[in-house]
Amino acid sequence: MPIKWDSRLSVNNHTIDMEHKLLLTLLNTLEIILRNPHEKESLRFFIDQLMESAQEHFDHEEHLQIKYLFPFYEENKEGHEALTVELKGIRNELYKYIDDANTSQEEADNMSKKINHVLRDWLIDHIMKSDMKMKGFMNDAR
Ligand SMILES: [Fe+2]
Repeated sequence: MPIKWDSRLSVNNHTIDMEHKLLLTLLNTLEIILRNPHEKESLRFFIDQLMESAQEHFDHEEHLQIKYLFPFYEENKEGHEALTVELKGIRNELYKYIDDANTSQEEADNMSKKINHVLRDWLIDHIMKSDMKMKGFMNDAR
């Protein structure tokens, strides 16, 4: 089930909110593409785009956190590192899936479940619990 961004996920910073929306959209897109086990070309594009956008977003957030003396910087950075490990694992599995000529619907469903897990664990949990603490620290910052 795709997750729709809503104002409860806002950290009151327009640029960070936009980056979160992009990551959410990319994860939703991957999940939707995986409904069809024959659709593989676009999978590579979207997983690469997700990795790149996530890395840029984490770097950007950490840069702002240092600049605005955010007191939970270390905790947030650890969350980013754990998510990067998880995303790289998913990317590697997706690459294998893409290169395997005989993938089944079941394998597509399994990949979809893993992506769904990242969606919920990360975008909801990390944003709601960790990123939300940035509210008030850097409201107009880019
Ligand atoms: Fe974030």
